[in-house]
Amino acid sequence: MGLSLTVNGDHLTSTADPITPLVDVLREEFYLTGAKPVCREGFCGACMVLVNGNPTPSCLVPVALAQGHDICTVEGLAANGGLNPMQAALEACDAVQCGMCFPGMVVSLTHLLATRPEATRDDIRAALTGNICRCTGYERIIEAALLALATK
Ligand code: FES
Ligand code: FES
Repeated sequence: MGLSLTVNGDHLTSTADPITPLVDVLREEFYLTGAKPVCREGFCGACMVLVNGNPTPSCLVPVALAQGHDICTVEGLAANGGLNPMQAALEACDAVQCGMCFPGMVVSLTHLLATRPEATRDDIRAALTGNICRCTGYERIIEAALLALATK
């Protein structure tokens, strides 16, 4: 039987225990490894996905409760087979960080670009409060987000 999920527009079935965190199902059953289980407490943002368009730590979502919702992972953010405008700006600004923190940041910033075209530098900082990098600065990422907003 299994649990029915919609991930990146695909209809998928999970055989996991219903209380399994969504991040584990995405990674271990569906091989969508962009979301990372790091803190598993909803604190770091490494596991961020969009649930019905809203940034959501997938470590906090039991897979059974993800049924009936649209899940979008970092793998599903590309537009028409290419980079979306936020991804393109991040690349253009060389604003690339490690594979643990960066996918979640891309998810949060893509949401910001889609929902807050008038966002300011402070809004960008606020949008990233749920995405923790412990080893470097955020400045290039913020510059890239400003570029994406300016060229949208
Ligand atoms: S692993 Fe989910 S917020 Fe840190
Ligand atoms: S945690 Fe990814 S670059 Fe700092």
